[in-house]
Amino acid sequence: MTTTPTAPASTTPVIGAGITRVDGPLKVTGAVSYADDLAPRDALVGVLVGATITSGTVTLVDASDALAAPGVVAVLSHHDAPSVVRPNEASADDRAPRPPFQDPVVRFRGDYVALVVAQTREEAEHAATLVHVSYDVDEPVVDINDPRAPRETDDPAGADSVRGDLARGLAEADVVIEADFVTGDNTNNPLGLFAACAEWDGEALHMWATTQWPSNVADCLAEAWGIPREDVRVECPYLGGGFGSGLRPWPYIHAAAMAARTVGRPVRVVLSRPQMFTGVGHRPETVQHVRLGARRDGTLTAVEHTATIPVAVDDDNPENVVSGTRQGYAVEHLRADVDQVRLHVSPPGSMRAPGEAQGNFALETALDELAVELGIDPVELRMRNEAVTNPDQGDLPWSSKALDECLRRGAELIGWDERDPAPRSMREGDQLVGYGMAAVSFFYFQQPCTVRVVVRRDGTAAVHCAAMDIGTGTYTIVTQVVADRLGLEVGDVEVVLGDSSLPPSPPAGGSGLATAISNATALAVAQVLDDLGLDPRAAPGRDALAGAVGGRDDVSAEATADQPDPDQLGMSPSGAFGAKFAKVRVDADLGLVRVERLVSVIDCGQVLNERTARSQVVGGTVGGIGHALLEHTVTDLHAGPQTGRITNAHLADYLMAVNADVPDLEVEFVGGPDRLNPVGVKGVGEVGLCGVAAAIGNAVFHATGRRVRRLPITPDLLL
Ligand code: MOS
Repeated sequence: MTTTPTAPASTTPVIGAGITRVDGPLKVTGAVSYADDLAPRDALVGVLVGATITSGTVTLVDASDALAAPGVVAVLSHHDAPSVVRPNEASADDRAPRPPFQDPVVRFRGDYVALVVAQTREEAEHAATLVHVSYDVDEPVVDINDPRAPRETDDPAGADSVRGDLARGLAEADVVIEADFVTGDNTNNPLGLFAACAEWDGEALHMWATTQWPSNVADCLAEAWGIPREDVRVECPYLGGGFGSGLRPWPYIHAAAMAARTVGRPVRVVLSRPQMFTGVGHRPETVQHVRLGARRDGTLTAVEHTATIPVAVDDDNPENVVSGTRQGYAVEHLRADVDQVRLHVSPPGSMRAPGEAQGNFALETALDELAVELGIDPVELRMRNEAVTNPDQGDLPWSSKALDECLRRGAELIGWDERDPAPRSMREGDQLVGYGMAAVSFFYFQQPCTVRVVVRRDGTAAVHCAAMDIGTGTYTIVTQVVADRLGLEVGDVEVVLGDSSLPPSPPAGGSGLATAISNATALAVAQVLDDLGLDPRAAPGRDALAGAVGGRDDVSAEATADQPDPDQLGMSPSGAFGAKFAKVRVDADLGLVRVERLVSVIDCGQVLNERTARSQVVGGTVGGIGHALLEHTVTDLHAGPQTGRITNAHLADYLMAVNADVPDLEVEFVGGPDRLNPVGVKGVGEVGLCGVAAAIGNAVFHATGRRVRRLPITPDLLL
């Protein structure tokens, strides 16, 4: 069964209602089982040893001292670790991250060179300091601007696009503005340290691993070891945060499987906080260039947006920095292009709104500059260039779009018209006050998802899917969809997630899971009702369900929601839209920026749960404030020999937005159910972060008259 467009069902109070998380009581009482909590308690402990050089070859791993230390059971390195295949076929990545210990090459600082397995963590950590590694050292290339870095102009992310004739569009412009932007590297910092525990039973592998995508980790492990997929089981029912760092099958997961295989006992590997900075991805820095041409009335005639991002040596993480630019505005002549340069950095990965977060900052800052240049209100400038159809998809109509309403309502909420638009005009004592805004057109992303719905003899229901809940409320929204469609109380629905042995799912990522799983769930419910001889649209209720199940234990049905085909549908699948408005205060003497207000107005289609959707936007906005002002993974690029060593790989020096940095955040939802899918939902996971940096940067310009084209916007840039 596949997704076909149907009119969204009328919504009942169950869908959309801000019910509290069904897993909330488990979480606040500490009863919830994170992946590592489920793993065998008698597992040995593995501690990874990272390379202390940035590029080169390991000539010898001398483990003799480590092996003689108390409690040590084994030391693995490229000398003796099991050989596995790098997952390419099964992997959802173009190329999955390399399993460790397969060759002696060091590709970045911190690349794993050994794993010490001991009885306790303390013993393993101690012995890890006794592993002596010799290297042949090569000179690394770690600077994105280093001309020696191999540049790749092919287009693995499908980012590049040409529309019309850029030169002609620029010639038609009355005003052209052009600017360079730089965004710094950021690191995902979920509170929960990533952990993987492996246990082999003959040729069958059972893993408990921190991941946003159990199905994919199982696929990749099966391919790596050349064992049947059904012999691999990956469990991760709950996660202590991910923000994208759990999307790829990272090397530490393979390390646990190798160690357990070698010692014939379960082994758990837990990353340290510094290892989280090099082991589970990071948001790559960018260098961007934007050129905008417009007529005096604000009509865009040309948009050019180019970007360079780093990728690691022998790894791929295609990131589309220009997707928002391509579809954001009605402009006939456009060129968008992303190049990658290969550096000796740890493999990047997704970090909330990957690509979009960086690209939106450049585009929406440049638009603010254009508005100033033209003397047109920045909100008005965006409205004048509204993409009524999707210019990036043959001008097909959107499946839903309420960006205009987002902009209007956001301006109203922040009091946009009450500000004095002149830069540096709103001083209050030593505080410079400023307002800024940005728009977001987030990309659409949906992958196939299969869900099983079980109706039991007593009329209650269960839902099974391998998908996992990163804490955003997946258990809750699936419960709501089932309760709504079956006419059950919320308490009569059990949702089982986070286990690769259940029907396969896409990642909890890309703002795509809520759409995929809610639609698959709705389809499976319709199927089971049909199988029960009930009207698929009738929401029969518990008694009727029990009656239809009759004497059987249960009746179940599976359904898959596929990606829709835009051409067949005659419309362009829409992601979320949003408008962000910021009010900041900048200390005129110190350059300190405080965010006083931040308004987000979001069109995410049908809101499944007002509370969890709002929480998504609030969380994304907090990340956006960090992106704008604080977060920066700093290396030794600017002092002495460049090693790419991260100098702030811990929570003390990696600055993130905390309560004191965040005002009460204002969130409103506008728009209605999307036309594309049965439930009418569009993902809301990432749109909250996007646009925050540009809105704050534009507010900083309004406050100070200083245009900062760099993230994070630190005080030194304002002095
Ligand atoms: Mo998100 S970066 O798709 O987990």
